[in-house]
Amino acid sequence: MSEYILAIETSCDETAVAVIENGTKIKSNVVASQIESHKRFGGVVPEIASRHHVEQITYIIEASMKEAGLSFSDLSAVAVTAGPGLVGALLIGVNAAKAVAFAHDLPLIGVHHIAGHIYANRLVTEMKFPLLTLVVSGGHTELVFMKEHGTYEVIGETRDDAVGEAYDKVARMLGLPYPGGPHIDRLAQEGNPTIPLPRAWLEADSFDFSFSGLKSAVINTMHNAKQREETISQADIAASFQESVIEVLVTKSKKAIEQYNVKQFLLAGGVAANRGLRQKLEQELSDVDVELIIPPLSLCTDNAAMIGAAASIYLQKGQFADYELNGQPGLELNHI
Ligand code: KG4
Ligand code: ZN
Repeated sequence: MSEYILAIETSCDETAVAVIENGTKIKSNVVASQIESHKRFGGVVPEIASRHHVEQITYIIEASMKEAGLSFSDLSAVAVTAGPGLVGALLIGVNAAKAVAFAHDLPLIGVHHIAGHIYANRLVTEMKFPLLTLVVSGGHTELVFMKEHGTYEVIGETRDDAVGEAYDKVARMLGLPYPGGPHIDRLAQEGNPTIPLPRAWLEADSFDFSFSGLKSAVINTMHNAKQREETISQADIAASFQESVIEVLVTKSKKAIEQYNVKQFLLAGGVAANRGLRQKLEQELSDVDVELIIPPLSLCTDNAAMIGAAASIYLQKGQFADYELNGQPGLELNHI
């Protein structure tokens, strides 16, 4: 018999609900984006995000169940992102999940948002262990080693800005709309990486990242040019910034793949949508004995299908949450 999980994700600015069959098949995947509401502020406004989630969540749950063609009695569990994220936003999803679980007497599962991003790959292909994942999103930049389902070892992470955050800040400097990542990605294809920008390699044996120096270097380059009344091409800035980011991400990933001798390398998170990054990884890993998995764009940015895919592992292990479950903005990856 099939197992169906209703999954809810409201950690940031998308109200998302999905139904996942046996942890691998999408029965429905509904995402209501709030980007239009946050755009004019140049970033996500937490209070506005919470309000939108409250307004949307019931409708999105109904739409997702309808699209899946199932009734609540067909479900095996209700899963929800418990953290990390914006606390007010998380609370809406957590309380909606509790309400559905209580009303239909279903087990409740709390999922870590990054575990979700990683498990987006399970909707693409079977995960083979040991594996490594590069998680690159608006809030996270992490290299995660997994020796089996449900265990996560963070072997490297950003010491300052997340990659997506750096993209969004540089985009803002260039006067591009929020979220800036896709705009920089597009501009970078039109420009040449002619502007010298730093690469933060950190200590030789470290898989950690740092992007704030690069971000400052872009800002300084633009200020200096302005003072000298010179014009620099926006496309060249985008291409140079993107080249620096990708070179560090790909070089460190390749080194980690070799050191940890993994079967698969998974890309996850919103920045996994980046065309330059996808191309460079494909190119650089073509001579390495590792299977590269990159989810389709719709599964890279925030969605609930990925939460359902991760939750299925907890369901199999019988790891359920109780009604004390709370939104946890700083939740650690191994703590759920
Ligand atoms: O995973 P996600 O949807 O939300 C978080 O969990 O943070 O990631 C959103 C981030 C934003 O910073 C956005 O600018 C970035 O992903 N992003 C991109 C691209 N598409 C989205 N960054 C670079 N290139 C892209 N094509
Ligand atoms: Zn995310």
